[in-house]
Amino acid sequence: MSKTPPNLNAAYGLKSSDDNKQLYAEWAGDYDDSFATREDYQLPAHTARAFVGAGGQGPVLDVGAGTGLCGGVLAGFGVGPIDAIDISAEMLDQAMRKDIYRDAIEADLNAGIPVPRESYSGVVSSGTFTHGHVGPDALNALLRVARHGAQFAISINASHFETMGFDAVLKGFEAERIHNLVLNKVRIYGDLAIGPNKDDQAIIALFEKS
Ligand SMILES: C[S@@+](CC[C@H](N)C(=O)[O-])C[C@H]1O[C@@H](n2cnc3c(N)ncnc32)[C@H](O)[C@@H]1O
Repeated sequence: MSKTPPNLNAAYGLKSSDDNKQLYAEWAGDYDDSFATREDYQLPAHTARAFVGAGGQGPVLDVGAGTGLCGGVLAGFGVGPIDAIDISAEMLDQAMRKDIYRDAIEADLNAGIPVPRESYSGVVSSGTFTHGHVGPDALNALLRVARHGAQFAISINASHFETMGFDAVLKGFEAERIHNLVLNKVRIYGDLAIGPNKDDQAIIALFEKS
């Protein structure tokens, strides 16, 4: 058992991939109820809608899929097939119970993605590019597994976006590796949220692989 209780504050303070594995192993069973429902967590839906609105299509990789909240919304729009990748076997186990995903890939994004290059026509991510989790370096692994023209909808916590230099990384990619970059700011939580992070925002980075 980790010393910190599984909640958002503990998640934001994580230092390593092993910390993430440990916390999410404990959180997986009640993540949907204790966090997503209670905090009116809207980011998975915002991300999925942005992807579909930009014309995104399957096959899709849901990056840091967790319990499958973003994939569930995508599937509701008729998008598929969808694969889930996550460092936490326990979160993936919850996701796979929902009959949304084709495959579950248990892997650390910081160590690369163990699938052939150019496997996906779309890439989504909700809530994984945030404090204590994953930084901009992981975008390279995402681009490797995406096909030419693949649509991306990657949500990034807005203050993490600033402190980790996502803007410079994405603008640097723009010349050759991606195009049609659009950055939209959204509220992570809805009006029913009550926690200390209730007003937090995220940037949804929409772009296509060149
Ligand atoms: C806040 S949850 C978001 C889950 C889901 N996408 C959502 O919006 O509800 C962050 C997820 O990122 C995963 N994660 C954290 N670090 C990771 C890493 N290095 N590689 C892969 N997944 C990671 C965690 O296991 C967790 O499932």
